[in-house]
Amino acid sequence: ENWFKNVEVFTKEHVAVLLAHDIAQHSNRFIRERGAFTVVLSGGSLIKYLRKLVELPHAESIDWSKWHVFWVDERVVPKDHLESNYKLAYDGFLSKVPIPPVNIYSIDDALEADGAADVYETTLRRLVKNGVIATSPNGFPKFDLMLLGMGQDGHVASLFPRHSLLKEDQKWVSFIKDSPKPPSDRITLTFPVINSSSNIAMVVTGAGKNNAVFSALRGDEKSDKLPVGLVSSEGEIKWYLDIGAASKLFKD
Ligand code: 6PG
Repeated sequence: ENWFKNVEVFTKEHVAVLLAHDIAQHSNRFIRERGAFTVVLSGGSLIKYLRKLVELPHAESIDWSKWHVFWVDERVVPKDHLESNYKLAYDGFLSKVPIPPVNIYSIDDALEADGAADVYETTLRRLVKNGVIATSPNGFPKFDLMLLGMGQDGHVASLFPRHSLLKEDQKWVSFIKDSPKPPSDRITLTFPVINSSSNIAMVVTGAGKNNAVFSALRGDEKSDKLPVGLVSSEGEIKWYLDIGAASKLFKD
């Protein structure tokens, strides 16, 4: 068992410090190698863990003009609504760094869930075609860095336990109208896309999540997997945990 290889456990403060450091390194590397950096944001507590990224030294060392920002999921609400993942990211992160607005691919809030999912997939297909987003060998978009949070129930993105969407293997983007976590109508990237990423950062804090973290990292192979247990990558998956979220991991 080498589940602990890519697991870092810190105080919440240091999760933010380490995450900023790692994101800056990824950004430098991808911009050097491919002239762009594609990063996918989640909603929830993830955004507050980006707070060190907007401070020195990163704020000045990162070439923000080469960033392209996407969302792993979005709620079907107006962009200025309190439940909007775009608003959360804008207020806590995007408004503080000079990323060109055209490189911020938010989900269309004028459409219903199904229409918005189609439009987002069309946008991703265009960006794969013109090389802004890399492509995985099986034809799915290969984002440079996917930043994922996880709910207490083990959901990631808007992919919830026992939901039929966990099995989606064709679509890149899907809508969901029966999210157990409100609001009910959402748009989400699918597992084939999430799992095609070059790098996945799992940012999970709080003791309420310790069971799902245990199940994902040390759970029985044969038991039914939580959504988080379906996250896999050809590249690197790194876990950023606080002591609460990690509290079950190191017991026998
Ligand atoms: C959403 C989020 C979601 C989030 C988890 C964890 O839109 O609900 O993108 O997938 O990352 O629910 O949220 P917390 O970190 O706030 O627990």
